[in-house]
Amino acid sequence: MNEMTLMDTTKQQTVAELEHTNENQHNEYIEVKTSGIHRHGVFAITDIPKDTKIMTYRGIKITKEESDILLKNTIERHKRDPTNHAGTYIFELDENFDLDGDIPNNDAKFINHSCEPNCEVDVVGEEVLIYTTRDIKQSEEITYNYGFEIDEKDIYDFKTHPCKCGSKRCAGYILAEEEWPKMKELLEKEDMLLKKDKS
Ligand SMILES: C[S@@+](CC[C@H](N)C(=O)[O-])C[C@H]1O[C@@H](n2cnc3c(N)ncnc32)[C@H](O)[C@@H]1O
Ligand SMILES: [Zn+2]
Repeated sequence: MNEMTLMDTTKQQTVAELEHTNENQHNEYIEVKTSGIHRHGVFAITDIPKDTKIMTYRGIKITKEESDILLKNTIERHKRDPTNHAGTYIFELDENFDLDGDIPNNDAKFINHSCEPNCEVDVVGEEVLIYTTRDIKQSEEITYNYGFEIDEKDIYDFKTHPCKCGSKRCAGYILAEEEWPKMKELLEKEDMLLKKDKS
């Protein structure tokens, strides 16, 4: 049995156990539907006040090693069949573990990133809670900032994640707000080098 088959088998067992729980089903605040940002998104079905815990990001706790295999496998699957848009729903729990959110009853996996979000994620122990950071109107898309950082080993890798959040403050790429000044510096540097090459 290879690594992936072993992981799939363990996951099927865990998913079967999770299917007995009803958490996140018939959530009173949200629904999943097509999003203008990317494929599916999560939308408010009612007005929601600031500081409301609207849902939990659920998943199976996996090691970083398992996470890497999962990511590699998804990329390979997509390369073999570009019409297969199966996403990777990995939530970074801490420096040792992630959550594989690709399980039933985890609508939070469909929350898209925004540079001007209306929610925040709070990791309390192993629970990942999604909170509103302002009042939200019915039918607004629920978003949070994914908090991606610039990879020191591959500083322009952020360009593989262009942002389509559509907000006035959109930084152009999916990155934590703290990284925006560094991102701008890097883009300016790249632009200067390109101009120098052309002259
Ligand atoms: C956790 S999924 C979110 C749900 C996704 N829309 C779906 O239907 O599977 C994360 C993926 O959604 C896409 N995505 C999320 N926010 C985005 C944004 N602001 N701009 C562009 N793509 C985004 C990216 O492809 C990202 O890898
Ligand atoms: Zn954006």
